[in-house]
Amino acid sequence: MNVNKIVILTGAGISAESGIKTFRDTGGLWEDHPVEQVATPEGYAADPALVQRFYNLRRAALKDVEPNPAHVALATLQREMQARGGEIMIVTQNVDDLHERGGAKNVVHMHGELKRVFCAACDHHMDCDYDIFVETTCPACKTTSTVRPDIVWFGEIPYHMDAIERAIKKCDLFVSIGTSGAVYPAAGFVQIAKHYGADTLELNLEVSQGSYHFDETRLGKAGSIVPDWVKEMVG
Ligand code: APR
Repeated sequence: MNVNKIVILTGAGISAESGIKTFRDTGGLWEDHPVEQVATPEGYAADPALVQRFYNLRRAALKDVEPNPAHVALATLQREMQARGGEIMIVTQNVDDLHERGGAKNVVHMHGELKRVFCAACDHHMDCDYDIFVETTCPACKTTSTVRPDIVWFGEIPYHMDAIERAIKKCDLFVSIGTSGAVYPAAGFVQIAKHYGADTLELNLEVSQGSYHFDETRLGKAGSIVPDWVKEMVG
């Protein structure tokens, strides 16, 4: 492996074979709900109980899914890179916990996490493995009706952008896995990586909106093509 610094961006496609629906494929997650209803601050203000229910169901559903070989392979790559003194950042747009359960560490969740909530009054962020309701009281400031899912909704600013951009600017290789390239800022990471001289690789089921930006695109299911690629990398 002659690559020393890698940034990996993952999207819903890496969790598809674990049984979590993607967003924009047929039968996608939003199908039963308009995006505006469950993934915007305005939707939450209009019907907080419905939005809490939506995320409670998705959080509970995590118990029924398992990481697939793509999550496990990325964790292997992370361990191998670090053992060889390399640097690797796994950035995910996913709010599930399958990278962690596959063995990856320090995963950067730019769109938040289903198993986190925060208080909109005092900004206290906390782990959450249970249902929350409009009536839930913040354990830190004791305010009621202010605890919400720690999910970055449309119109909100993704997390950890400074650290992500710093890592992309100095990486040798940027790899995008299972994302349609439809949502910025993540969709623009490949252009930053290329501008700063990195090689770029896309692993996706089909040609995406962003494919033409990548040096190479490999098509197939993440559960097969990610482990194959990791084998090439680590030997
Ligand atoms: N293996 C690899 N790729 C797959 C697989 C699979 N088994 N199944 C589907 N894909 C690909 C699809 O072809 C598609 O290009 O994964 C991509 C999923 O795209 P989206 O549904 O748009 O998901 P994502 O790119 O993660 O969405 C980005 O949009 O709604 C927001 O915040 C949400 O984080 C999400 C963001």
